[in-house]
Amino acid sequence: MNEVKFFFNQTGGERIPLEMHKAKMVQRLHLLPVDERQAAIENAGFNTFLLKNRDVFLDMLTDSGVNAMSDEQYAALLRADDSYAGSETFYRLEAELSKMFGKKYFLPAHQGRACEHILAKTLVKPGQAVIMNFHFTTTKAHITLLGGKVIELLTDEGLKVESDIAFKGDMDIEKLKSTVQALGKENIAFIRVEAGTNLIGGQPVSVKNMREVSQICKANGITSVFDASLLSDNLYFIKTREQGYENTEISDITREIASLFDIVYFSARKLGCVRGGGILTSNDELHIAMRELVTLYEGFLTYGGMSVKEMEALAVGLREALDFNVIEQTPIFVEALTNELRKFGVPTVLPAGGLGCHIDAKRFLEHIPQSEYPAGALAAAIYLVGGIRGMERGTLSEQRNDDGSEHFAEMELVRLALPKRVFTLSHIKFVADRVAWLYRNRHLIGGLEFVDEPSILRFFFGRLRAKNDWHIRLTEAFKRDFGESL
Ligand SMILES: Cc1ncc(COP(=O)(O)O)c(C=O)c1O
Repeated sequence: MNEVKFFFNQTGGERIPLEMHKAKMVQRLHLLPVDERQAAIENAGFNTFLLKNRDVFLDMLTDSGVNAMSDEQYAALLRADDSYAGSETFYRLEAELSKMFGKKYFLPAHQGRACEHILAKTLVKPGQAVIMNFHFTTTKAHITLLGGKVIELLTDEGLKVESDIAFKGDMDIEKLKSTVQALGKENIAFIRVEAGTNLIGGQPVSVKNMREVSQICKANGITSVFDASLLSDNLYFIKTREQGYENTEISDITREIASLFDIVYFSARKLGCVRGGGILTSNDELHIAMRELVTLYEGFLTYGGMSVKEMEALAVGLREALDFNVIEQTPIFVEALTNELRKFGVPTVLPAGGLGCHIDAKRFLEHIPQSEYPAGALAAAIYLVGGIRGMERGTLSEQRNDDGSEHFAEMELVRLALPKRVFTLSHIKFVADRVAWLYRNRHLIGGLEFVDEPSILRFFFGRLRAKNDWHIRLTEAFKRDFGESL
């Protein structure tokens, strides 16, 4: 097994992450003065999705489609076989996927949510439930749009912000058994495991838990679905945390996981570091049902809405996703940022997971009720003080209940995503320093209220305002401490 890459500095004995790659190409960044950042966040309706990237210094919104590709992936772009049907690129990618996941069929799609659209259309009937460890925003929207409902059966420990449980993404097996029995298999469209989990702090799922879920699905004749979008971080945690897997190759863990599910799908914007997605299955009937929808909604079966160049790079990216040296980088950097923040007392999700560092806005902003969107306010404030764009993962990211009332999120998080191989350790230190300043001045931050609230996926386009103009007082305090220029 490869060593996890850290070194201890000679003077302080500090444990420092060590990147096993170097930058070959760079993009210039700008840090606007604080007054301009204040104007930018106001113009964006206090919604970090609506900021222009030119106004952002460190874009930690997501890893989706913004991971750094490797030199080998760029080289592969030129190999692409451009054709509408029967592209050689497709067959190369199909062969790579079949080796990796051991499934018979691969259906390409333009991104993860496109796979969710096809799956929901194929499997969900009105009134049916989809059971999962935890939802992802687009997954839930596709299911509910078709009249289905989502039931989340995460273990109680998974929703505790701070814990020492290694696999907080695990499904509660006892609850799963009783829910299946109570609902009856005909009322369950499918059971879905997302590993790693997105909305609860990038927390992983153990193979043991997936095996138990799979057994229940098989025993009850229920279709099992695995969302592999965040698989690479999850593989790292299985290898480093799950008993019995210390000496198992990443490729063997991947095939074992895939063998437990009828369908595997993924966003290649995350897994594979390109832009695209795909569905895998060995089930003939499911394959035929989904194939028709892919052709209708995505494109012909040998490209499915993806550019063939991206598909060629994906084949390489997937191979790299099985390399421990590659997949360890994000979790190690997430842990580094989490540790830096905690040195300053900033409350975060623990243990540090994959995808990004997750700040606990409920504890950071104890004075702001959930009805005033503390995680949204904190994301806006973090932009204001550092030009750092994080993402609200709390009540704003939830759908309202059927009666129009707010659905308060279990956790109010701000995610500072660490796209693979993009940021340096000095970026991490800068973020920690600015967020620490904000934490000391947290009493200046207030709530948000909607000015314009879309009915579907409101967090993407919703516009809000700062209650009592708290952002102006925050800017003034910042200028007193840092001057005009930063
Ligand atoms: C777990 C999970 N599933 C599905 C998706 C949807 O993928 P995409 O953004 O490519 O539509 C995401 C995206 O963030 C995700 O994290």
